[in-house]
Amino acid sequence: KLGQYLRKKKCRWNSWNHFYCGINEQIIRETADALISTGLSKLGYQYVNIDDCWAEENRDASGSFVPKKSTFPSGIKALADYVHSKGLKLGIYSDAGHKTCSEKMPGSLGHEEHDAKTFAEWGIDYLKYDNCFNDGIKPIVRYPVMTKALAKAGRPIFFSLCEWGDMHPATWGFPVGNSWRTTNDITDNWQRADQNERWADYAKPGGWNDPDMLEVGNGGMTKDEYVTHFSIWAISKAPLLVGCDVRNMSKDTKEILTNEEVIAVNQDPLGVQAKKVRMEGDWEVWAGPLTGCRIALLLVNRGPDRHNITAQWDDIGLDLKAVMEVRDLWEHKTLEQKFVGNLTATLETHGSKMYVLKPAP
Ligand code: GLA
Repeated sequence: KLGQYLRKKKCRWNSWNHFYCGINEQIIRETADALISTGLSKLGYQYVNIDDCWAEENRDASGSFVPKKSTFPSGIKALADYVHSKGLKLGIYSDAGHKTCSEKMPGSLGHEEHDAKTFAEWGIDYLKYDNCFNDGIKPIVRYPVMTKALAKAGRPIFFSLCEWGDMHPATWGFPVGNSWRTTNDITDNWQRADQNERWADYAKPGGWNDPDMLEVGNGGMTKDEYVTHFSIWAISKAPLLVGCDVRNMSKDTKEILTNEEVIAVNQDPLGVQAKKVRMEGDWEVWAGPLTGCRIALLLVNRGPDRHNITAQWDDIGLDLKAVMEVRDLWEHKTLEQKFVGNLTATLETHGSKMYVLKPAP
């Protein structure tokens, strides 16, 4: 049961990409409200995750975290109660070292049981656990201590390992945590390399590769680029952690983050991460299986010009003679033509096309 619970609901919001250390309880409450009023929560975005900088620099006399008095005066428990009263969940952040990456609050190294107990008492549902100031102790030694502490604390808390891929957490992340970072920190620009795909075989329901949080809506990319970014995360079965200010989303941002058909690919119960099955210069074909003998297909044009890209059936795991019905997930339409052997589309620069293919009736 616990496994099932942790396996689902991978859509979330996190404060870091937009607010960095500039967070406070008001923003968190308003974000919870906005997840509901925008309809995002109904689509599965149910976790409101507080990132770094929520605590005072020093623990109290009993060794507990102290929520920062100037920004979280009501405390974290009150915030959890508020978020829960809206039917949502609350996530928090700590570090498997003696300070967090901002250097502004203590880490949990050596305090794992105490902190896990505190988080459970507060009603926390998700822990992002970072990797700074770790005294050179290997992550494989430090992270499982918190896994055990969380289990002992007795509350189901999704455990997100924020080990940035340095020690290949994909290879040891399961069953230590429920997701692990495969890359260094994301930035809001198109040049970002994709290092997540090579770890595809390690992802599975209950243990996901995490290429970091989404930048959709933060302003550094064009709409086509954000569509491509969201599509790659979705087909890769990556946690969809919204990283913008959901209280003030543009129409385009909302349209991208609320594409139910793309989210459904991400949440498909089979949980198989898609792979880049063909690369030719700047053109990529990504594919992966879905439940019901369907295939998720993504064509990406990383080049500077409009271009045709073709997905060949033998690249995406289909019999050459298979006749497929094709649904375009961004156009929201099933194409009239049935496809045999291959499918070609014209893509704008940095644009993409995302499809679900199923055997034609
Ligand atoms: C690291 C993490 C980021 C963020 C910051 C906070 O850089 O990778 O996602 O949590 O720390 O300081």
